[in-house]
Amino acid sequence: MKERTIKIVDDANGLSYTLPVENGTIRAMDLRQIKTGPDDFGLMTYDPAFTNTASCRSAITYIDGERGILQYRGYPIETLAEHCTFLEVAYLLIFGELPTQSELNTWVFDITHHTMLHETVKKFMEGFRYNAHPMGMLVSTIAALSTIYPESKNIFDAATRKHQLLRLIGKMPTIAAYTYRHQLGLPYVYPDNDLSYTENFMNMLWKMVEPKYQANSVMARALDILFILHADHEQNCSTNTMRCVGSAQTDPFLSTAAAAAALAGPLHGGANEAVLTMLDEIGSKDKVPAYVKKIKEGHGKLMGFGHRVYKNYDPRAKIIKWTAEQVFEITGRNAKLDIALELERIALQDEYFIQRKLYPNVDFYSGIIYQAMGFKPEMFTVLFAIPRTAGWLAQWQEMITDPEQKISRPRQVYVGENMRQFVPLAERGTAVRR
Ligand code: ACO
Repeated sequence: MKERTIKIVDDANGLSYTLPVENGTIRAMDLRQIKTGPDDFGLMTYDPAFTNTASCRSAITYIDGERGILQYRGYPIETLAEHCTFLEVAYLLIFGELPTQSELNTWVFDITHHTMLHETVKKFMEGFRYNAHPMGMLVSTIAALSTIYPESKNIFDAATRKHQLLRLIGKMPTIAAYTYRHQLGLPYVYPDNDLSYTENFMNMLWKMVEPKYQANSVMARALDILFILHADHEQNCSTNTMRCVGSAQTDPFLSTAAAAAALAGPLHGGANEAVLTMLDEIGSKDKVPAYVKKIKEGHGKLMGFGHRVYKNYDPRAKIIKWTAEQVFEITGRNAKLDIALELERIALQDEYFIQRKLYPNVDFYSGIIYQAMGFKPEMFTVLFAIPRTAGWLAQWQEMITDPEQKISRPRQVYVGENMRQFVPLAERGTAVRR
């Protein structure tokens, strides 16, 4: 098949350049041959916030934002949510194939046997103030694991890498549960190896004095589905952070801490917490039209709405709505759902939202379920970070083993002063300041 090319003509001098087009992209480095002046080292692209730049080739997650499609390793998210457990999906993301029964047994066994935290990590967590935000505790504690496992710096050894993957996926629910118990002033609960990944998480969250924790199976499955939906989402802000920090050959604990820090922001994973704050602020269904009007007038954003990639209904939000109904059968209906449904109804028929293709995203309904389960909004982003760790690690491993990748380092367009005359401190007046 003939290779597709694109011709660029420089209007300044009439020179033309033919660039190859591959996978719908041109190589930014191919533009370097185009000079905009005698001293120019070559043309660059200017793309603040990476709105139109592919930074890697990836075989992990596929999103068709126009059609609302999400696939992990080629499998539709709906199929995985219906038929798999979260750990099966984590295996798929990291190794590229769904596990056989014996591979899954080994994987589950290995992760289960890496759920305990070193006692110094427990002590470290005890040092946080009683009202510390759980995301701050989570980020710092993941970073602290790097001090316990110095061998994790050996990132080019496949066996060492795998060991750290098991540790991180195994320990995330334990750290998350400890942040929860810490806020409540409750003693930490050690993992129970008889339980599944989500049942054990529930055990560490909610076990009191009973000798053995009995997890509600509907709630455990709902958490498992939520974990599957949040496991990966290609080159989002936190994944890009994971790849960027990891590209400096930083160990996976510190890289994951950095990714979790990015997730904490309200425009990213922190949006689920912000949605609940917004629903509280609205207060009741009849106040929704006035709230939407305020947003359209430029006062804030509708949290849990809009997405850089999805210009259609986020497929995860649909599955979450269905899961919410299952959870509410156990917990009772969260009254916030009615406000959220009304908000969605009004927004989806409003010209402002239609024109900008703004639909509910994954965070719009997840918080409502989490609150019904008994979590405070501060915990929501922590619940997002647990499963996303599998995605971060899959993407990190793909980056480490990709011969095309190097340390991540964008260029800039310098708009500052040219060379200036230095003025000694004693001679500096304020008058010259702008
Ligand atoms: N409410 C109201 N208007 C919105 C919203 C919203 N939630 N989102 C985007 N818009 C408007 C913008 O104001 C802009 O309008 P304009 O063209 O008149 O200026 C237009 O839609 C395009 O929006 P951008 O900000 O350019 O979109 P971008 O891709 O940069 O941002 C983002 C995407 C950050 C998700 C944004 O939609 C947002 O802030 N949403 C609310 C926060 C949220 O829910 N974040 C979670 C995302 S999912 C995740 O990270 C897990």
